[in-house]
Amino acid sequence: MEFTAERIEKALAPRLAQYYPQAGSTNEIALNWLKAGAPGGAVVIADEQTSGRGRLGRSWHTPPGAALAVSVILRPRAAFVSQITMLGALAIHETLLCFGVESGIKWPNDVQVNGRKICGVLPEAVWDGERLLGVVLGMGLNVRVDFSGTELEMTAISLESALGRPVDRLELLVSLLNNLDRWYALLGQPALFDAWKSRLATLGQIVTIGAVRGLAERVDEDGTLWLRAADGALHHILAGDVVLGTGEHGN
Ligand code: BTN
Repeated sequence: MEFTAERIEKALAPRLAQYYPQAGSTNEIALNWLKAGAPGGAVVIADEQTSGRGRLGRSWHTPPGAALAVSVILRPRAAFVSQITMLGALAIHETLLCFGVESGIKWPNDVQVNGRKICGVLPEAVWDGERLLGVVLGMGLNVRVDFSGTELEMTAISLESALGRPVDRLELLVSLLNNLDRWYALLGQPALFDAWKSRLATLGQIVTIGAVRGLAERVDEDGTLWLRAADGALHHILAGDVVLGTGEHGN
């Protein structure tokens, strides 16, 4: 069954939700809504995005009727802002599990199925000087995006092809928001970090991030990754793109 504003509002009430059949970027809309005073938990959903945003300034493809593109407005304490990325990846991981699909998290926040990216997570924080106004947590989950014949054919995957059956995106959304709420209540507690870390597929692998290549030895509670280079030096990485040791680019 397709997304409609009525179905979404009914399923998510009393949570505030804005639904767009077509939007530029749900993160952009949610950032403006956050600045205008939207409460924590409010969501923006689009069936299609024409200028979806990815990490590191990239664009994110959301064709009509094929993905879950959602941005959730959160108002955490500033001390916990670095855990919002973990929260998103973990909630997606658990939602996929609810639908019977095993996944792993590629540092920092890609969710993969069979080594292929099924979901990207993009948190964007809004500050007023030192004061955190809030965070928009954007998640883009491939549900029935057809990657065949595209440059992502070998590195991306959709939920329905992993599962072999159709999925109702509204059921997926409700499950995702439930999982998100559950983990949000544990923000700043060791359980959240421990759960994220235990699903992290990157640990123990030889990876290249920017100019640094080494063994992904450990992660810290703020998400920092530590790489042990061949010369024994330990490098800490705050953000970046993981490339597997084979030289293959992991989307
Ligand atoms: C990544 O590069 O892996 C992150 C992709 C995040 C995409 C989602 S789709 C919903 C939300 N709105 C956006 O413009 N981006 C995020």
